[in-house]
Amino acid sequence: MRRPFVVAGAAAGLCIDSLGYDRMLWLRELQVVNARMILLVLMGLVTATAGVGCQQKNGSATENANQPEAPTADTLGEQTIVSNAGHLASPEYSATDSAWGERLAMQCRACHSLDAGGGVMMGPALFGFFGREAGSLGGFSFSQALAESDFVWTPRALDAWLRQPARFLPGNRMMYAGLSKADDRRAVIAYLLKVTDDTGEELE
Ligand code: HEC
Repeated sequence: MRRPFVVAGAAAGLCIDSLGYDRMLWLRELQVVNARMILLVLMGLVTATAGVGCQQKNGSATENANQPEAPTADTLGEQTIVSNAGHLASPEYSATDSAWGERLAMQCRACHSLDAGGGVMMGPALFGFFGREAGSLGGFSFSQALAESDFVWTPRALDAWLRQPARFLPGNRMMYAGLSKADDRRAVIAYLLKVTDDTGEELE
């Protein structure tokens, strides 16, 4: 019963023998090439998985994609100017997590003063900026994009700016990636409406 296998084995042995040294070397090289290919494929897989992982962690692509298209500085159109107190009483900003808004605003404070009498830091002072013409504060050297823009800061404009600063106003110099979650922007905007209000009104 075993004979056919033995014969086949012997034939295979003979075959390999008759391949000669060159052929064997070639076979070995083929193996090396194969190993390299496998390594490349593996590396590709690892990179692809890491890429997907990063995107999920960062989240900006997916979060933003699920929200309606944001306006840009050019498409904001006619804006209604309402006092900070008026905005804070609106359903949009009356029920936000203010502790979370304050924490998020730490990011802004790295470059902006939010307090009365605050001066220029890396970015312009933001006290009283709602209702102000963008890029108009004296004493700060704005980018050409912001200086030549033609809109007023409202919570709506700020929401679009914070979502994707570079998309809202290409050419601006605010080195900030943006806040991709709508709830995060609502929380930080509500907080800013409170702390940067310069009317002295009682705010909730
Ligand atoms: C890394 C520094 C940096 C961070 C962080 C940052 N900003 Fe800015 N911001 C700037 C700079 C610089 C400018 C001026 C941009 C220009 O001239 O194009 C600016 C401009 C602005 C303006 C325009 C002001 C005006 O008078 O027209 C607003 C509003 C603003 N930032 C809000 C924010 C908010 C809100 C946050 C936090 C969520 C924030 N920024 C985070 C640096 C920063």
